[in-house]
Amino acid sequence: MQRPAPANLPPLSSAAQAHSDAARAHLRAAIAAASGWLPFDHWMAEALYAPGLGYYAAGNVKLAEPDADGRTPAGDFVTAPQLTPLFARTLARQAAQVLRQTGTHTVLEFGAGTGALAEGVLRELDTLGLADTQYLILEVSADLRARQAERLAPFGARVQWLDALPQRFRGCVLANEVLDAMPVSLFTWSADGKVLERGVAVDAEQGFVWEDRPASPRLAAAVAARMPALPGYVSEINLQGEAWIDAMGAWLEHGAALLVDYGFPRSEYYHPQRAGGTLMCHLRHHAHGDPFTAPGLQDITAHVDFTAMADAALAAGLQVLGYTSQARFLMNAGLMELLAQLDPSDAQAYAQAVAPVQKLLSEAEMGELFKVLAVGRGMTQPLLGFARGDRLGKL
Ligand SMILES: C[S@@+](CC[C@H](N)C(=O)[O-])C[C@H]1O[C@@H](n2cnc3c(N)ncnc32)[C@H](O)[C@@H]1O
Repeated sequence: MQRPAPANLPPLSSAAQAHSDAARAHLRAAIAAASGWLPFDHWMAEALYAPGLGYYAAGNVKLAEPDADGRTPAGDFVTAPQLTPLFARTLARQAAQVLRQTGTHTVLEFGAGTGALAEGVLRELDTLGLADTQYLILEVSADLRARQAERLAPFGARVQWLDALPQRFRGCVLANEVLDAMPVSLFTWSADGKVLERGVAVDAEQGFVWEDRPASPRLAAAVAARMPALPGYVSEINLQGEAWIDAMGAWLEHGAALLVDYGFPRSEYYHPQRAGGTLMCHLRHHAHGDPFTAPGLQDITAHVDFTAMADAALAAGLQVLGYTSQARFLMNAGLMELLAQLDPSDAQAYAQAVAPVQKLLSEAEMGELFKVLAVGRGMTQPLLGFARGDRLGKL
């Protein structure tokens, strides 16, 4: 995370620059209001979600949609549901098993982005004979919610948006790349073995600078429970993600949640060699490590410590049902059968449909870095996505 932004970032338009300047001014005001130092998770929350200014809360393009010819699209990054409808269709097969097993009729998706996953899941559920499924979405970005409403309008009242967490829920929960978008705390270990919290201050030139302060007892205890003291080591901890799973323990009455994201088990996450953490920014398809580069215009993310999420689920009384790589999950859930249904006689169309699938499955791309964690309550049979290659023992 201390890596500077690459020199080859594309130039910003004057409108984009003006937007980022406004976001910077907002962040400086937030730091001033906090007496000159803002813990990084608060800074990140404002940079991503401040109404009208934050990356996810302003009207920029963000999530890219590949064009019909599969060319590099506008936006900042592409997620699996946008790469190929086969991702959503495969996830739908797993969702269908959960709905049938529990006798429920509702899917709840968190952070639905452009609505691509919702659209693909609903279509596949129809073909699987589950056309009575209701689809709920909880989206914190008003801008993305409007985009989803437009895309999902053909489904009418089957799709509804929630304004807050449900009181209770029975069915299948989906969250693709949502945990990585939650604000994380940054910490470092001091030379004398103390946990310091990394925050953001403003220097004499009005730029953002890192400043470390003694961590709260809660943060220090959470860090010390996860890794040994390694002076100079910098990393993140996603307490908001853990709290989100903790809350799920109260509202998920019966069903399973499929959490798809990039990350590792704890032993890899806090590996001594990963001494700079996993914080990453995405700006116009460039990934870099400097969150101060263009606040309001770039995504800021951290990988997920899946051990922490599984622990949070267990502590909240949920079952941990499975954990495996995205490639393994998709193959278990039937991606290859769906691929086999494609018509290879149109070689060009076929190649275009297969290329993104290779990206989803390839170890060098999304297949291994991305994982699927399933947690739930009242589930009595194994989930098909984890039938082979389950890695629960690694958490
Ligand atoms: C990286 S995008 C992924 C979008 C989409 N799931 C996809 O795969 O294309 C992260 C999404 O999560 C949403 N988000 C972040 N925190 C959230 C939360 N606590 N509850 C619901 N949505 C959230 C963001 O607004 C955004 O839509």
